[in-house]
Amino acid sequence: MTVSDLVQAALAVREKAYAPYSHFPVGAALLAEDGRVFLGTNVENVSYGLTICAERAAIFAAVAQGVRRFRRIAVVADAIAPVTPCGACRQVLAEFGPDIMVTCCNLTGQTFDATVGELLPSAFSSPAEAQ
Ligand code: THU
Repeated sequence: MTVSDLVQAALAVREKAYAPYSHFPVGAALLAEDGRVFLGTNVENVSYGLTICAERAAIFAAVAQGVRRFRRIAVVADAIAPVTPCGACRQVLAEFGPDIMVTCCNLTGQTFDATVGELLPSAFSSPAEAQ
């Protein structure tokens, strides 16, 4: 699975996003260390705060299949510049490691790459783990 394949998977699943309020569909494709790919889209709700982002939907789909080790997540949205994950999604990604690569892409093919650790430096961690 190349990075380009992963972006294509995110682009394709974006078509399934449920975004009737924002009209901003987002697709995410999460590559696990075992080579499997888990997909997610944003799912909005009439009670706006219940919306879930594409990134978290993909992570939760993977975890529900017993998969917790990830290499990369590709995120695709239609924006002038590639959209990066929101703060909540960064914290959820950080749960599974700072080295996961995040590839953000818009519909013109512009990409932005960063690690989770770069996107969320000094992430909250369990007080029991903090030094
Ligand atoms: N959204 C995502 O799914 N991922 C992001 O990285 C940014 C925001 C969604 C949430 C909401 O449904 C819509 O985009 C507008 O914020």
